Amino acid sequence: MLTSISRTTFTRLPGTACYSARRVQQKPKTAIVMLNMGGPTDTDQVGDYLHRIMTDRDMIQLPIQSKLGPWIANRRTEEVQKKYMEIGGGSPILKWTNSQGQLLADSLDRLHPSTAPHKHYVSFRYVPPFTDEAFTQLERDGVERAVIFSQYPQYSCATTGSSLNAIADFYKTREVPKNIQFSLIERWATHPLLAKVFAERIHEKLALFNEKEQDDVLILFTAHSLPLKAVSRGDTYPHEVAATVANTMLHLGLPNPYRLVWQSKVGPLPWLQPYTDDAIKAYAKQGVKHLLLVPIAFVNEHIETLHELDIEYCYDVAKEAGIKQIERAATPNAHPIFIDALADIVIQNLDKGHTVSKQFLTRCPHCVSQRCLQSKAFFKQLCGYNEKSNKDTPNVVTLKN
Ligand code: FES
Repeated sequence: MLTSISRTTFTRLPGTACYSARRVQQKPKTAIVMLNMGGPTDTDQVGDYLHRIMTDRDMIQLPIQSKLGPWIANRRTEEVQKKYMEIGGGSPILKWTNSQGQLLADSLDRLHPSTAPHKHYVSFRYVPPFTDEAFTQLERDGVERAVIFSQYPQYSCATTGSSLNAIADFYKTREVPKNIQFSLIERWATHPLLAKVFAERIHEKLALFNEKEQDDVLILFTAHSLPLKAVSRGDTYPHEVAATVANTMLHLGLPNPYRLVWQSKVGPLPWLQPYTDDAIKAYAKQGVKHLLLVPIAFVNEHIETLHELDIEYCYDVAKEAGIKQIERAATPNAHPIFIDALADIVIQNLDKGHTVSKQFLTRCPHCVSQRCLQSKAFFKQLCGYNEKSNKDTPNVVTLKN
């Protein structure tokens, strides 16, 4: 039962730190590979980071991409560097991912000793540590199991899909280790503890509004937008984000009005709307005075929360539009409930012999990408897909009972 995960245990950090120190000296048995896009830790990394994003066809598709991608990256570098300077000189995403991974590994060691010691590996797509570093290291460490764990709760072919394609690319030129049992967690949008941690984060900020106004605060859930081309292809991201929103509102149990809006559009093509900044302005025109922004697809702070939401939208846009009070909910970061969620998701994966889901192996209805086709075939083989072991496995992550 998940309830056996004690929240108070997580808060005993001095004990946890000692425990971790002992654990890392031992040979790890189980690797938890945490996939994410990553962010530049200093402004020198910004140019390469943008270049990698703009030339990644899994992430974004541009005409004559090999030329236009680097051109856009070069053009945007200085402006993006300035933004990183305004949030302290770099992205905190590596720091948060390492904290989450360390706490997760400690938790798994306590709750699931049969697969201990556990060790987390960070595998970023656009800045170091890259996929090849993580997988080379876990092979070197001699692990027996490796759980590939996307840190994007909601699956998109542009995000998790891109990270998984990078793993498939890595093993194109080297032999897949036969002594490691791999498994994949590619989505967990509907995990109840994810909804619970978002609800906690909302409560923290609703408490800052005047008590009489709290029920009327309009909650704007905001997620990274997606090109409409990808939506029309059948990418599951929009409805998975909506599922997290619905679960969070159910968990919250409050009468507040809410909407889901989309941020961070790049380039000239149409993306999923309404855009977050436009929604703030439009609601201000409708007379809304109190807003709470909730980043619902990010599990840790980075440029889109610290700059785009906090500086550009909460400060510049909302102020100019005449919003009386706007707050922004924190991302899960190292909240104990979030670490409980991560641990429960991994334990389910370890216990169920669930290697790779049918949901992942099914392509978007209008996918014509050979890369997707090959990547899914690769993971089917890598994780030893077994029809029988996946037969009773639900394709959404839920609490164990
Ligand atoms: Fe979604 Fe290929 S674009 S599976």
